[in-house]
Amino acid sequence: MFKAKISALGCYTPPGVLTNQDLEKMVDTNNQWIVERTGIVERHIAPPEMATSDMAVEAARAALDQRGIDASELDAIIVCTVTPDMLFPATACLVQDRLGAKRAWGFDLVAACSGFIYGLTTAAHLVSMGSHKKVLLIGADTMSRIIDYTDRSTCILFGDGAGAVLIEPTVEGETGFIDFHNLVDGSGGDYLKQPAGGSRMPATQETVEKRLHFVKQDGAQVFKYATRKMFESCRDLLARNNLTVADVGAFIPHQANRRIITAAAERLGISCDKVIIDIDRYGNTTAATIPLATRDALLCGKLKKGDLVVFAAVGAGYTVGANLWRWEM
Ligand code: UT7
Repeated sequence: MFKAKISALGCYTPPGVLTNQDLEKMVDTNNQWIVERTGIVERHIAPPEMATSDMAVEAARAALDQRGIDASELDAIIVCTVTPDMLFPATACLVQDRLGAKRAWGFDLVAACSGFIYGLTTAAHLVSMGSHKKVLLIGADTMSRIIDYTDRSTCILFGDGAGAVLIEPTVEGETGFIDFHNLVDGSGGDYLKQPAGGSRMPATQETVEKRLHFVKQDGAQVFKYATRKMFESCRDLLARNNLTVADVGAFIPHQANRRIITAAAERLGISCDKVIIDIDRYGNTTAATIPLATRDALLCGKLKKGDLVVFAAVGAGYTVGANLWRWEM
C-alpha cells in the first residue's frame, strides 16, 4: 500500500459579489438576521455565461501551476458537484478536455455538501492502491443556478465557487491521508433536495411554474442533523485513531452555517483558534467550501506543514463525512 498526500491547492471564486444588503432589496430579509442566524455577509455569484466546468478549470489550473506540472500528467479527474454543466456528459469529461489531460479518466461525484470529503477519500484510495500517481480532485458548484431568489429561507445561504487539490503518493517521512469516517443516511433525503429535472420528475411546464427545479430545504431538520453528525463523525474518527482534539492542528468544516460549525466545535471541545470559518465571505458553496476554507487557513497561518487536519461535512442525502490527514504542503 502507498500513502496519499495533498500536494497542491487552487481555488476560484467569480468576481461578482451578492451582499446581504443586495438581498434585502430582493426578499423580506435583513442583514442582522442573516449575520446572526448564519454568519454570512456576502457570497460570490457567477456571471450568466459561466458554468461549473469554467470555475473548475480555473481552480484546476491554479493547482497544476502551483505544483508546476502539466495536465497531461494526470491519471484521473474527479469533479464533486450537484450543479454539473449538464446531467451528462459528466463535468469531469468537460474539464479533462479543457485542461488537455489526455491520459486521465474521470467521473463526477454527487454527494452535495459532503462531496469534497467523499472525493478526498476516493482519491486517497486510488493513490493508495498504487495504480494512480496524480489525481485531480475538484469541488465546484454554481449554486446560484438552482436557487430560488424569491425564497428567503434558502437564497441567503448559497454562493458559487470552486477548489481543486492534487493527490499524489507521499515521499519518505510523510504521512498524508490517515483515515475516514463517511456515512449515508438516505432517510433524510426529503429534507434537502432539488425535486425536478431527474427521471422521477422530468422538466415540464408545471415543474417550472411550481419552481421545482430549485433547492428545497427544511432548514431546521437539516440544522439539527448536521450539528449532531458533524460532532459524532469527528469524535469517532479521532477516537479510533487514539487521538484527541489537542492533537488536531486545524478543523476545516463544511461552511453551511456558522452556528452549525461552532456548535459542533464546542461539543468536540476544540479550541476556536483551530476552527476555520470563512462563511462570512463565501456563503455555502456546497462542494467548494472545504478547499476554499483550506486556502484561507493556509493564508492566515492556521494550517502549517505537519499539522493534523480534520475535514468534516454534512449535506443532502443525508451524507456525512470526516477525513483525517497530516498536512504535507
Ligand atoms: O449545506 C447543506 C446543509 N444545509 C444546512 O446545513 C442549512 C441548515 N439550516 C440552517 O442553516 C438554518 O435552519 C437556516 C439558516 C436555514 C434557518 O435558520 P433558523 O434559525 O433555523 O430559522 P427558522 O427556519 O427556524 O426560522 C426562524 C424565523 C421564521 O419566522 P417565524 O416563523 O419565527 O416568524 C422564518 O420565517 O426566521 C424567519 N426567516 C427569516 N427572516 C429573515 C427565515 N429566513 C429568513 C430570512 N430573513 N432570510
